[in-house]
Amino acid sequence: MRYAHIIGWGKYLPQRVMTNDDLARMVDTSDGWIRERTGIRTRHIAADHETTASMSIAAARAALDRAGVSPSELDLIIVATATPDHIFPATACLVQDALGAAHAGAFDLSAACSGFVYALSMAADRIRAGNANTALVIGAETLSRIINWNDRSTCVLFGDGAGAVVLQGSDQPGGVLSTLLRADGSGSDLLIVPAGGCKLPLTLEVLTRQLHTLHMNGREVYRFASRVLDRAAREVMHKAGWTSDQVDLFVPHQANLRIIESAARALNIPMEKVFCNIEHYGNTSAASIPIALAEAAESGRLRVRDRVIIVGFGAGLTWAAAAIEWSEPQAVSRSRWVLRRMSYGLAGVRSRARRLLRRLEDRLFGSGDPPPTTLIPKNGAAQGERHSTPSVSEPSQAEAQAR
Ligand code: UT7
Repeated sequence: MRYAHIIGWGKYLPQRVMTNDDLARMVDTSDGWIRERTGIRTRHIAADHETTASMSIAAARAALDRAGVSPSELDLIIVATATPDHIFPATACLVQDALGAAHAGAFDLSAACSGFVYALSMAADRIRAGNANTALVIGAETLSRIINWNDRSTCVLFGDGAGAVVLQGSDQPGGVLSTLLRADGSGSDLLIVPAGGCKLPLTLEVLTRQLHTLHMNGREVYRFASRVLDRAAREVMHKAGWTSDQVDLFVPHQANLRIIESAARALNIPMEKVFCNIEHYGNTSAASIPIALAEAAESGRLRVRDRVIIVGFGAGLTWAAAAIEWSEPQAVSRSRWVLRRMSYGLAGVRSRARRLLRRLEDRLFGSGDPPPTTLIPKNGAAQGERHSTPSVSEPSQAEAQAR
């Protein structure tokens, strides 16, 4: 029988920190209100050059380093995100290219704040079924780009960041032992970015009405979260054959400290066994659980064979949980670390060579038809000016920096 173990973890938080007092200078709010109602003190905000892909790449490299796994060993990359770099291609493909993961399939998974747990479950199932051996699962968000910074009911809640884990197959029992995935689309309007998809494409009116930003009915989402969190945790515990007093660490999605505390009470798990870092990062949606796992492991709060419960909940509505037996860390050799660092440099060369080859092939064997055009402006070009397709495949500034 195959098991899917977590053998590496990593995180990335942008440098810029925004405090509650900073927000109080922007909207009608206060440090007291935010701390009392949510538990948040600060959040990290991406710099202009940072994107979900660039933060994913940084977290992924840290996780691969920790696991002692080189990108060429990856069979699968999943990026759980509600804020991808583009509608398509998938952010996971940008990560695959930057890492030089030549043998990996790559896709994004859209399940909002539950996304990381959904993605972990998908990857673990593929490993247990024998269809993959090594997978990279990332949760990453640049929520600051879809926030309405004039809406005090949402702008105080969210932050940016990325977390990643490496999963690997083994015959040794442990790892991801049970999972649960659920959805209730009847609540799809409770937490939504209304525009930017095919239903409501971007227009001047849409932008003026801020329909491209996040809208939330906080009270309803709070009620939903309080209903599902402890039940989902109980169900995966039961499937794994554990009782709540056998759980060593409970890692819920970091949306609101009050929701976390009431779930812990309902589960009869003392707060010492609950991991909370919402104070520092706010709600980072799909990134919150992998960031928390990485911090818990780094700080020694997660030890070998510890029993961990993770639960995500959010837009969709979606919720998801997993019971994990924490695995033995890999012994990482210095020489493999150096080789891996070199492989990241080579990944950039490989990517540029493949782009060049594609252009050469187009010149030599192309149809001779004029190239298709795009409205995406290249750096420095006037808005609305038309360009030939090769300009679109140039790496963005953030992707180039991540390399
Ligand atoms: O990750 C996805 C899942 N998301 C969540 O789980 C979020 C769930 N919801 C929540 O965490 C909470 O509902 C919030 C933190 C969003 C709001 O807390 P609340 O205790 O439910 O506040 P409320 O919405 O009931 O608002 C209470 C009052 C209102 O004023 P009135 O109508 O009582 O006069 C709001 O206008 O607080 C006011 N308010 C604020 N005041 C100062 C709302 N936002 C703010 C603010 N600063 N930022």
